[in-house]
Amino acid sequence: MIRFENVHKSFEGVKVLDGVTFEIAHGEILAIVGPSGTGKSVTLKHIVGLLTPDEGTVSVKEGARIGYLFQGGALLAWLTVRENVALPLKETTRLSGTEIDAFVDEALKAVGLEESADKYPAEISGGMVKRAGLARAIVRKADAVLYDEPTSGLDPVTARNIHRLIRAVNDERGLTSVVVTHDLSGACSFADRIMMLKDGRVVLIAKPSEFMKSELPEVRDLVSASKGEI
Ligand SMILES: Nc1ncnc2c1ncn2[C@@H]1O[C@H](COP(=O)(O)OP(=O)(O)O)[C@@H](O)[C@H]1O
Ligand SMILES: [Mg+2]
Repeated sequence: MIRFENVHKSFEGVKVLDGVTFEIAHGEILAIVGPSGTGKSVTLKHIVGLLTPDEGTVSVKEGARIGYLFQGGALLAWLTVRENVALPLKETTRLSGTEIDAFVDEALKAVGLEESADKYPAEISGGMVKRAGLARAIVRKADAVLYDEPTSGLDPVTARNIHRLIRAVNDERGLTSVVVTHDLSGACSFADRIMMLKDGRVVLIAKPSEFMKSELPEVRDLVSASKGEI
């Protein structure tokens, strides 16, 4: 579905992606973990085509539509939940108002926000804002959805609900998902594979059980930190 082959990317002479190679199969959820500033968001931006590689190739299955939940992906405060979710359809399709309403209703239902459709972002909880962002990412009938830190700033229980939702939406709609997160133990619960990036390189890409058992020092460091060890 998505394939990176030896992708290099620099900004003003500073290397951010340094030969990144991986592949994501249709239906799979890949979690991307790793320190801040290591190229996780830059990787997602290559998938949607907001950035292009200096060297190497990024290929996405032909015709695939990609939903994108931006890092810090805020809702527009002056629009209701329903209006926020409708935005991608208004911007990129010529659907009628009634058709847009039907798509939006379905996306809101998928994330359990039907009741809050006419509220403004300031009137709903942080977890609901994230769910609305998720609805906005899937409303265009995406084939793949990219989530950049979808649970940052949420309490653990709400974060777990978002993780479950990402898994459920992926499986029910037959999507492929990529989730950037700092929550390694959370990632192990919902992702099929975990990829660690560090200094613009893939340190490891493996199933959660194998990832947690890895002897690589960078991975051990991340695993022990995620278990709260000091
Ligand atoms: N459009 C850009 N122009 C210049 N530098 C950028 C741009 N996007 C990202 N960077 C730099 O690339 C590095 C990796 O960024 P990013 O992928 O956002 O990190 P993270 O892993 O935390 O998501 C950072 O040093 C960031 O400042
Ligand atoms: Mg980022």
